[in-house]
Amino acid sequence: MTSAPTPSARPREQRPRRYLMCRPSHFEVVYAINPWMDPGKPVDAGLAVLQWERLRDLYRELGHTVELIEPVPGLPDMVYAANGATVVDGRVLGARFRNAERLAEGPAYLDWFRENGFTTLHDPEYVNEGEGDFLVTAGHVLAGHGFRSDERGHREAEAFFGRPVISLELVDPRYYHLDTALAVLDGDEIMYHPEAFAPGSRALLETLFPDALLVSAQDAAVFGLNAVSDGLNVVLPEAAEGLAGQLRERGFHPIGMDLSELLKGGGSVKCCTLEIRPRP
Ligand code: ARG
Repeated sequence: MTSAPTPSARPREQRPRRYLMCRPSHFEVVYAINPWMDPGKPVDAGLAVLQWERLRDLYRELGHTVELIEPVPGLPDMVYAANGATVVDGRVLGARFRNAERLAEGPAYLDWFRENGFTTLHDPEYVNEGEGDFLVTAGHVLAGHGFRSDERGHREAEAFFGRPVISLELVDPRYYHLDTALAVLDGDEIMYHPEAFAPGSRALLETLFPDALLVSAQDAAVFGLNAVSDGLNVVLPEAAEGLAGQLRERGFHPIGMDLSELLKGGGSVKCCTLEIRPRP
């Protein structure tokens, strides 16, 4: 009898993706809505743009399509495109932000989708911060709550996408969005930092994803989980060195990036990247 292959033995295959990004032309840290943000700390705006351009160029070199949304003056956090919407099967669930500072981003992103030929859109009733709190596996939509998205928004997403939405409770303010504590690697393979979740949610993750890659406090604290995988290449903050080693052992190709300036707003690789998933 042969047993199922261990995650490390699985062959890895890249699938080309379509991403939406927003140049940090108006990026600055002038308010604090998460523990990473300190308006008193200087941000190098030019370097922020350069680091973001490197990420955009990397995606294109890897063969992905990168679409761009025009940055709006006065919306410094708009660079974190992941929060702008959630797109599954070509269906666009708009975002509704918790904080007044970001409210106008929701309609701005929804307009982009309208203007770019998307016809199945939903303007949400409850707070949801897009892919900051919704992560899509092959079988589920994983959904964070506790700091930003409203749990009622999870049910709203479930009805709109017609996919099971698993609610997960976040408990550490440093990991205020699900995409700072968990990332989808491929299909139903995920990685996460267990301590970021309430006990019940940890138990749920253990049951649903027994093969998950567990990420250390050290790698989580440098935003290592704010990563983007195409099934082979995993783009992540370069400081997450231990995690890069774990990914290599599983047959992935980790690519470390320096997004120091965008980290000052509480975001990194994944936060800057919204995945547009096409119709099946
Ligand atoms: N300053 C932003 C906020 O606190 C950062 C958002 C990061 N985005 C993410 N997908 N986690 O809302």
